[in-house]
Parts: sequence; C-alpha cells; structure tokens
Amino acid sequence: MKAMRTQVGIVGAGPAGLMLGHLLHLAGIDSIIIEDRAQDYVIERVRAGVLEQTTVDLLNESGVGSRLQREGMFHDGIYINVFGNRRRIDIAALTGRRITVYGQNEVVKDLIAARSSTGRPLLFEVADVSVHDLESEQPKIRFTQDNTSCEIQCDFIAGCDGSHGICRASIPSNHIRIYERIYPFGWLGILADAAPSSPELVYSVHERGFALFSMRSNAVTRLYLQCAPDEDVSKWSDDQIWDELLTRLHSNDGWKPNVGPITQKGVTGMRSFVTEPMRYGRMFLAGDAAHIVPPTGAKGLNLAMADVWRLSRAVASYYQSGCDELLDHYSEDCLRRVWRAQQFSWWMTSMLHRPNTGNPFDSRRQLAELEYVTNSRAAMTSLAENYAGFPINE
Ligand code: APR
Ligand code: PHB
Repeated sequence: MKAMRTQVGIVGAGPAGLMLGHLLHLAGIDSIIIEDRAQDYVIERVRAGVLEQTTVDLLNESGVGSRLQREGMFHDGIYINVFGNRRRIDIAALTGRRITVYGQNEVVKDLIAARSSTGRPLLFEVADVSVHDLESEQPKIRFTQDNTSCEIQCDFIAGCDGSHGICRASIPSNHIRIYERIYPFGWLGILADAAPSSPELVYSVHERGFALFSMRSNAVTRLYLQCAPDEDVSKWSDDQIWDELLTRLHSNDGWKPNVGPITQKGVTGMRSFVTEPMRYGRMFLAGDAAHIVPPTGAKGLNLAMADVWRLSRAVASYYQSGCDELLDHYSEDCLRRVWRAQQFSWWMTSMLHRPNTGNPFDSRRQLAELEYVTNSRAAMTSLAENYAGFPINE
C-alpha cells in the first residue's frame, strides 16, 4: 500500500475539482486530485458552454482567464423565438452584465494546464476509488493506480466527482435528503462545422418542440433538439437532424442556422436534483456531485464554480484561523444559490418546451407567458438577471 498525505483530497477532475485545486493552490493549500478517466477523455468531453459574468471574473481574477479573454465569445443578449417570432432580450442593457460562450472543455483544458504548472498532483486513470472515516479528523481516500493500492490521508475530502460519483453515494442515507424531478424529454445535441449565423443564442419554441442554437467558435455551431429522454440517436440521419433543426429554429424574419457537417452527436436526459446538506463530516460535495440542473438555464458549470469558490474560502479560513465557521455555513450558503438556480432552470425548461399534457389550455397559457416574457421590460429584466447570474457571494 502506497501511503500519501495532503490537506484536501479532491475526487474528480471536472471543472469543480480542478478549480477547487487551483483556488486552494493560490491560498497556499496542498491538495491531491484523483480522476478515474483519462486526461484526453476529460478534455474532449463535450458539455455546456455559457459562462456567467461571475464565473468569467473568477477565472480572470485567479489567473486562468487569458485564453478565455482571447477566444471567448462575449454576448450582450439572447433571442427567444416564439413560434417564428424572434425577439431579443438585451441582457447587458437590462442588467449591466453579459455572458460568455466558451466550451466547458476549454475551461477544463486551461485548468489542467494551470495545475500542471504548479507541480501539485493530478492523477488520471485511477480505479476502485472509495472514501473512509469521513466523520473523523483524518478522512481517507483509497484507490488503485497501475495495480498499486494507494491511500491518501486528508484533513478534508472534496467530493467533486459529478452526478454518478462515489462521494455522495458514500454518505449514509439517513444523513442526506435528495430532491429530484425528472423531465419527460431530453436534448439531442450536435456540434457542426458551420459558421454561426447569429451572433447570439436562439432559444426556439415550436409546435414540434424546443430547439436551441448556440456556438463554440466562429466556425463551429452547437445545436440542440427537444427529444424523448431515451431517444436513440443512431436512428437519426444527419439530414433528418438538420431538417428538424431548420424547421424548429427558422424565424419569420428569414433567420435560420447555417448547415454544415455534423462532427459529434449525443442525447442527454433532463433532470433537476439537489442533495441536502452538501456535507457529511469532513467531506464536502461540490458541483454536479451535489446538484444537477436541466441545461435550459445554462447554470450547471456556473453553480459548480460558485460552490468551489465558497469551499476554498472556507478551507482557507480554517487553516488561517482554526475557525470552522465558514465550513459550517458552506452547505447552507451554497444551497441558497443552488435553489434559486433550480427554480430558474425549471422555469426556463417548463416555459420553452412543449407541454405534453394533451390539454390545449396548457399550450395557450404557455403562449401567454412567452408573450409576456418577451414584451414586458419587468419580465425580461427578471429573466436577464437570473440568466446573467448573481454576484458570487449571493
Ligand atoms: N473517482 C474519480 N473521479 C471520478 C469518479 C470516481 N469514482 N467518478 C466520477 N469521476 C470524475 C468524472 O470522470 C469527471 O471527470 O469526476 C468528474 C466530475 O466532473 P463533472 O461531471 O464535469 O462535474 P463538475 O466538475 O461538478 O462540473 C459540473 O459539469 O455536467 C456538467 O453541466 C455540468 O457544467 C456542469 C459541470
Ligand atoms: C451550449 O452552448 O452548449 C448551451 C448553451 C445554452 C444552454 C445550454 C447549452 O442553455
């Protein structure tokens, strides 16, 4: 058995684990990050791409924002296409804040580079990960690497291992409560080599279902279609996907996305999920390990960043003053932001997807809501404030 020791043992090298390791490093705190996947897999994994101003500020202030500043696409607004009527919500004018489109995997790439330059450990392709003695002062992480059993003795463990990780699953069920809602649809997402035909995102409501136009660069478009949660993507030819996207996205002003070769496609189910509290003994959960939002509100990565900012501050305060106060408030403070984002993500999801209740009342009510949200300054301001995101300490 190989024995190691660190201040904070971090399980998972997604955005949450990597950013936590980085913020702790800046505070002079030692960590070991372990990840069960290969480095290339983590970097290539296609995920969401909208960063709140708060997330961008945090990346910049912590010295990992230089490529983001060069390559990120800064957006002042979004469009909502209501049955062909495309209307713009001017987020910058309404809130003074803007959003940045920059793929989550680019954030991960930048954070891995920052970690490597510190020389602090980041271990990929570990197996059989488990956590132990969580209620003691010296919790432990065990795993195997290259057929060697390893144990890390830690002061704290950060469970940043996403929604299917082992950290949350290691908490005795009588110590946590789970809140969950599963939606009766999913998103079929594609990446295409096509120049974005709109400088800003288009969220589109159509009789045939929701569609979303987004982008990754001046040459790559990212698009989504509402589909069944268990849709078999292999049954869709590229032509069928484009036909459906063009039908659902085109607007009466003549706008439609540019078509190009599809380079990646996949289906994701939609769910809302919250774990309370986000702590058990000396293990703290952050990011998708603690909560999942449906992607319609573009909040997942941003919530993960806010969690680890809070956790790094709490851990730093503990080492500076020996005081547990911020650690003790971590879960409660995170959950306030999490639930506000849950509400917003649920609302955007319900408003923009076609109700499948079969009751025409629901469709007419939805149209009235969309008319209100895209015409009333008060309603647009509320959407814009939530979409652009709140200051990090709120
Ligand atoms: N041991 C080590 N690592 C693990 C284990 C395990 N047992 N289980 C999972 N992991 C790794 C995963 O391979 C992944 O790299 O933990 C990482 C978790 O990363 P993410 O799933 O990206 O979660 P998080 O870092 O919280 O980022 C949240 O991801 O899903 C999106 O929309 C979400 O943008 C949000 C972001
Ligand atoms: C994306 O670009 O992948 C994206 C954008 C907005 C969303 C979700 C995903 O609401």
